[in-house]
Order: sequence, then structure tokens, then C-alpha cells
Amino acid sequence: MKIRDKFAAEPRTFSFEFSPPRTPDAVIRLFETAERLRGLAQSLLAFSRPAAEEATSLDPNEVVERALDLCRYQTLKAGVRLERALAPGLPRILGVPNQLEMALINLIVNAAQAMNERPTRELRLSTEADGDMVKIRVADTGPGIPPRLQASIFEPFVTTKPEGQGTGLGLSTVLMVVERHHGKIDFTTAPERGTTFTLTLPAIR
Ligand SMILES: Nc1ncnc2c1ncn2[C@@H]1O[C@H](COP(=O)(O)OP(=O)(O)O)[C@@H](O)[C@H]1O
Ligand SMILES: [Mg+2]
Repeated sequence: MKIRDKFAAEPRTFSFEFSPPRTPDAVIRLFETAERLRGLAQSLLAFSRPAAEEATSLDPNEVVERALDLCRYQTLKAGVRLERALAPGLPRILGVPNQLEMALINLIVNAAQAMNERPTRELRLSTEADGDMVKIRVADTGPGIPPRLQASIFEPFVTTKPEGQGTGLGLSTVLMVVERHHGKIDFTTAPERGTTFTLTLPAIR
């Protein structure tokens, strides 16, 4: 069945009420919705428009700082304490800034969401040189990733979040970006202690 026929067969009505926001809560929900849509749009763009942008020489710490800037709203809102441990004098990496920033934003937002309602909410971003590679780590003090999920979190549409909050596209997008940069991603996680994602990217010789 063609998509158009399917839609014709299942008529849908869209209805919405328009009333001005009454409380700051409504404004916050509006922001949250906008952020979610932006995240979804970015993921879909990354899937559908591979390598549209050119790779350039980048300072890994600047990539981290820009990613943090771009998701300041989510981390502030979640009441997360942010710690940076960015090694000075790192070698540069070859990368597409938007893609790498988006990958880090996905990891940061996941970390902030995982720590929601936890007593301690600490997000730690660190960088270090490791031989001819650069490592970027995003560590949280969330609940950890349950063992039954660990093998599948990088698959598209795997999510534990309620509908409307998670798309399950975040980590699959991150993996795709990292592979396109000839790097790798792995994680360590401990129940009730937290999770650390590590991106390992080749330094420019
Ligand atoms: N830092 C983390 N701590 C605990 N669980 C995580 C973390 N990051 C990802 N996850 C788990 O992996 C799933 C997939 O993540 P992701 O691909 O970004 O999709 P989404 O965030 O839309 O659910 C999440 O729903 C969550 O269960
Ligand atoms: Mg996510």
C-alpha cells in the first residue's frame, strides 16, 4: 500500500485548543516541547543528510564548550551541577562541528534526564589525550543503564522514556556520527552510581 493510500484510508483529525499560557508552567512546557522537536529534527537531519558539512580541524575542548552552551537550558532546568575537567594543550581533531556538538548534546541531555529526581545530580565533562587519540567523557550520577538494555541502547528507537519524551534516536545518532569520524564510543555503568560515555576520536597528526 502506498503511503498516500494509507493516509487516505485512515482519515485523521487534528484538533487543538488555543489559549494563552496562564502560568509559567505552560511556558516551561512550551520550551520543553520546542527543545524536544529541535532534538528530533536534528536527529532526523543527521540520518538523512550524511556528510553534508565539511570536516575541519577542531580543538576538542571548544567542541565541548559549544555543546554545553547549546544545552545550558536543559541542564539548568534539571538542576544539574556541572564540572569540567578539560585537559590543556590537546591535539586537534578532524571533524564536522555541528555533528560532534550534536553527539555531545545527546549524551548530555541523556545524562540530565537520567539524573532527574536523583538526590545527587552531577554532570562531569572531561577531555584527555591518549596516544594519538583524544577522549571526551560525559559522566553522570544517574541510576545506571540496566543490564537488559546495555546491548541495545545504540539501536534506533530503543527508549525507556514515555512517549513524547524519548525517540530512541539519540544514541544511534551519536554512534553514527562517531563512526563517521573514525572514532568509537563505549560506556561504563554501575547501578545506582552512574554512567560514563567515552568518545575516542583520532587526533590530527
Ligand atoms: N546516561 C544514561 N543513564 C542511564 N540510561 C541511559 C543514559 N543514556 C541513555 N540511557 C538509556 O538508553 C536509552 C536510549 O537513549 P537514546 O538513544 O538517547 O534515546 P532516548 O533518550 O530518546 O530514550 C534511554 O531511553 C535510556 O534508557
Ligand atoms: Mg536521548
